[in-house]
Amino acid sequence: MNLPLSGKVALVTGASRGLGRADALKLAEAGADVIVTDILIEDDENLETTSERLGPVAQIMTQTKQIFTKSTTDQIRSLGRNSAAFRMDVTNRTEVESVFREVKEQFGRIDILINNAGTLDHTARLEDQNDEYWERDLRVNLTGAYNCSKVAWPYMKEQQWGRIVNMASVAGTLGGYGQASYSTTKAGILGLTKSLALEGAKYNITVNAIIPGIIKTEAFEITNPGMRERMIARTAFKRPGEPSDIANAIAFLASEQAGYITGVGLPVAGGIDLFTF
Ligand SMILES: NC(=O)c1ccc[n+]([C@@H]2O[C@H](COP(=O)([O-])OP(=O)(O)OC[C@H]3O[C@@H](n4cnc5c(N)ncnc54)[C@H](O)[C@@H]3O)[C@@H](O)[C@H]2O)c1
Repeated sequence: MNLPLSGKVALVTGASRGLGRADALKLAEAGADVIVTDILIEDDENLETTSERLGPVAQIMTQTKQIFTKSTTDQIRSLGRNSAAFRMDVTNRTEVESVFREVKEQFGRIDILINNAGTLDHTARLEDQNDEYWERDLRVNLTGAYNCSKVAWPYMKEQQWGRIVNMASVAGTLGGYGQASYSTTKAGILGLTKSLALEGAKYNITVNAIIPGIIKTEAFEITNPGMRERMIARTAFKRPGEPSDIANAIAFLASEQAGYITGVGLPVAGGIDLFTF
């Protein structure tokens, strides 16, 4: 069957759950072979120590067994696609390089990179911002996307074909009360996206960003209920988006049909960024 992404190889970061996992499954449904990567892997003997180091959301997800990195590859294989899971910390350039080398050897090419890995659990006003989490957010959300793009670039350049999709956020375009570190990284992602789009055009590499509003992932479900309700009330639809809303947009941007779209920040935000009253 000739699907839109048949013959393509995609790699998704931060795909143990949530949007990354939904993206990986959607890209596979659209025909791609998909590499599922995350710093958290369900059968890793160091899982607990890693999640303690990562922060509160990682700890809750580990305790409640909501890590599906390897099981997502099984689901992808059941769709008839090739897949592999790798532990990959996006902040560790050496680890990123070695995973991409391995993928190139095993799968023959790297066409699509989804820079999804992110931290969403640092909320505090400026006077209470935690310096360690400020640094962590910059390293994971911003430097992580830079690292993976830089390592993917030569492979895509050699193929004269590539698609990079970065995850921004409305916190990056609108700002976020108590989200200084997070919103700074997401605004930075948009700058990275546009600069790489300009540089990638001559190699037929497109670079775009998705700007999600609030999407019903496991991480969203454990945010403060009052805050959740206030955010939902700001959307035009009066409901959060589904992970598939993001994944559908990503599958399109990764396709041949989106070949003339680059440097775009596409809001998939249910109108949260509109003047609603
Ligand atoms: N859910 C939303 O409402 C929403 C809104 C706007 C933007 N986003 C963005 O979408 C992306 C996914 O969000 P989500 O809701 O699925 O969150 P999530 O916390 O469920 O997923 C983030 C994933 O990144 C992984 N990760 C964290 N640090 C990593 C590292 N150093 N290396 C590799 N992987 C690492 C985590 O283990 C996790 O699997 C994030 O970039 C987030 O900022 C989400």
